[in-house]
Amino acid sequence: MSATAGLGDDDLRALDALVDDALAAGREERLPTLGYGEISLVLGWPEADPRFACKRMPAFPTRPAFESYRRTLLDYVSALEAAGIAVVETEMRGVDRADGSVVGYVIQPILAAETLAPGILHRSDPASGHPLVAAIVVAAATTVSPRVGLDAQLSNWAWQDDRLVYLDVSTPMLWDAAGRSLLDLEPLAQAYPAVLRPPLRRFVAPRILDGYRQLREVYLDLTGNLLKERLDPWLPSFLREIATRLPEPLTESDVHGYYRSDARLWGVLLRLRRLDRAWRLRTGRTYPFLLPGPIDR
Ligand SMILES: Nc1ncnc2c1ncn2[C@@H]1O[C@H](COP(=O)(O)OP(=O)(O)O)[C@@H](O)[C@H]1O
Ligand SMILES: [Mg+2]
Repeated sequence: MSATAGLGDDDLRALDALVDDALAAGREERLPTLGYGEISLVLGWPEADPRFACKRMPAFPTRPAFESYRRTLLDYVSALEAAGIAVVETEMRGVDRADGSVVGYVIQPILAAETLAPGILHRSDPASGHPLVAAIVVAAATTVSPRVGLDAQLSNWAWQDDRLVYLDVSTPMLWDAAGRSLLDLEPLAQAYPAVLRPPLRRFVAPRILDGYRQLREVYLDLTGNLLKERLDPWLPSFLREIATRLPEPLTESDVHGYYRSDARLWGVLLRLRRLDRAWRLRTGRTYPFLLPGPIDR
């Protein structure tokens, strides 16, 4: 039996109804939140004794659109596993709406808080090092390719029984042999103001996605995020490991430069979503997405 089989369809509908009520009332902060990523809000369920991490995706317009995303996500998990990465057991389930749309949830067992990588490094001494540093650098080097992308940021890893586990598969980054992205951007695009969706799809999203299939960019993103997580003292450890995997080493000033531009990009994207939410609420509609709170940079 799968580890997430204990979450019934009724439970999922109850969770989805709770999210809907919170969105309608503008009370997202009351939800049982486990964590925030750049893209999604992760809920813990059941509320009283959370065992499942439930990541709410935007609504898909139809069942087939949902099924197709689900297939890509499962293919992505298989591609990561084929590259030697242990992925948390992951399921994608849908909640059908009266209008035919389907809200997607990516569901995983909750990993113990003390196994999450950012906390481990916060509690460890950079001078003594930690084996998860080299493990992440190696995992990225063996996975990233023209057809498989990886978001190697620390917040996407856990360290269990001396081995790495990957948990962020909601945005499956796969490309076909012709170089076309297999990720359906439509549900993500819906979170932005309508006039901006065409340029976001055409210019911004492909640029962001491409970064995840280029090892140097993946490392810049990983190390840039150390600054965001206030883990700067760990930067030299990572840069030393990375130097063994790249033709040209990364420097601290590369990382600081990248971090400034990346923080700007995500800051702008988040502000656009907040703006769209404010606009929809003012015009009597609901904004059907969960947004992370203010990001401290
Ligand atoms: N299975 C899980 N168990 C415990 N915490 C989790 C789990 N999945 C996600 N989280 C928490 O939620 C955060 C965001 O989840 P993630 O899947 O990385 O979403 P995003 O795509 O938005 O980055 C993680 O960094 C972690 O803190
Ligand atoms: Mg993440």
